[in-house]
Amino acid sequence: MDVGSRGAERRPQEYLEGRGHVVVVIDCADLERSAAFWTAMLGYVRDGEPASPYQSLVPADGVGVELLLQRVPDGKETKNRLHLDLRTRDLVGEVARARSLGARPVDEQPIVEGGWTWHVLADPDGNEFCVIEPAPSYWDRPWQHPRVRRLAPSDWELLRRLRLEALQESPAAFGSTFEREVAFDEALWRSRLETSAYFVAETATEAIGMACAVRLVDPDSDSPPTMELVSMWVAPQHRRFGAGARLVAAVLDHARAEGEPLVGLWVAGGNEAAESFYRAAGFERRGEEENLPGVPDRCGVRMTIAL
Ligand SMILES: CC(C)(COP(=O)(O)OP(=O)(O)OC[C@H]1O[C@@H](n2cnc3c(N)ncnc32)[C@H](O)[C@@H]1OP(=O)(O)O)[C@@H](O)C(=O)NCCC(=O)NCCS
Repeated sequence: MDVGSRGAERRPQEYLEGRGHVVVVIDCADLERSAAFWTAMLGYVRDGEPASPYQSLVPADGVGVELLLQRVPDGKETKNRLHLDLRTRDLVGEVARARSLGARPVDEQPIVEGGWTWHVLADPDGNEFCVIEPAPSYWDRPWQHPRVRRLAPSDWELLRRLRLEALQESPAAFGSTFEREVAFDEALWRSRLETSAYFVAETATEAIGMACAVRLVDPDSDSPPTMELVSMWVAPQHRRFGAGARLVAAVLDHARAEGEPLVGLWVAGGNEAAESFYRAAGFERRGEEENLPGVPDRCGVRMTIAL
């Protein structure tokens, strides 16, 4: 793939508020061999053909630091004074992957310091780099967390995309289907956004989850409308990193701001992961399984939280 030819989709790593771009240059003897290793190791792609003696590599999604491979006549002699760190949650897996791609271990035993553990490896040219598993607290830093924001009616295409992805990925979790909602038109998505509060969780590059607060009236009872948490979903590869909890917090903040005394929800029978998730967020189960309102032949449990 040639990101260079996709121009507008490339977002280089800026420094000093756009004064320029940071590029890491790596010396090598063989552009092809080095490009094969680093593209596979990092999921980068070649940015066009080599312009001898250079080959540019960029992230496949276009966002981030360019690596520029530079063919040099001299071989590697002493230890690098600058190297790449690949920070991972899976040290053993990443080291094995690097070795299978042609990296050579510089040490056999990992180095451990202050809760961080790493291996030094060398790329096919002997350039050292580290595969490093930071202390668990590293992953809790605020910049790791996705940002949660409320969608406006103009965001209807994003809502449509996320919702359809959720219905396809977790069909048993929701009281609707992909086949039903894929037929909805723009006006319907916009009206959903006008009448309910939809929140999305976004990383720097993509939307990864959603939740909705909607006020529902039960036509079969005289009780007042309740605020319901619905459409809760986080993309599988982003689960267990707190995105769901942040979305629930946004829904509860919204309900409090609206003066709601309680938020309720339904969990489809057998969705124990979701039930544990809601319990961790403070919801309590109310009673045994019963028919899901408005969804014939499906059972579930009612959970609520008092605000
Ligand atoms: C349920 C769901 C939204 C959770 O999102 P998430 O981003 O993974 O949740 P979080 O990382 O914020 O989890 C917060 C806590 O909830 C609990 N939890 C979350 N997922 C859990 C699971 N699969 N099993 C047990 N507990 C779980 C844990 O206590 C977790 O804290 P921990 O990771 O520190 O142990 C996500 O799994 C999902 O989208 N599932 C498919 C769709 C679905 O079932 N939606 C609910 C419809 S009612």
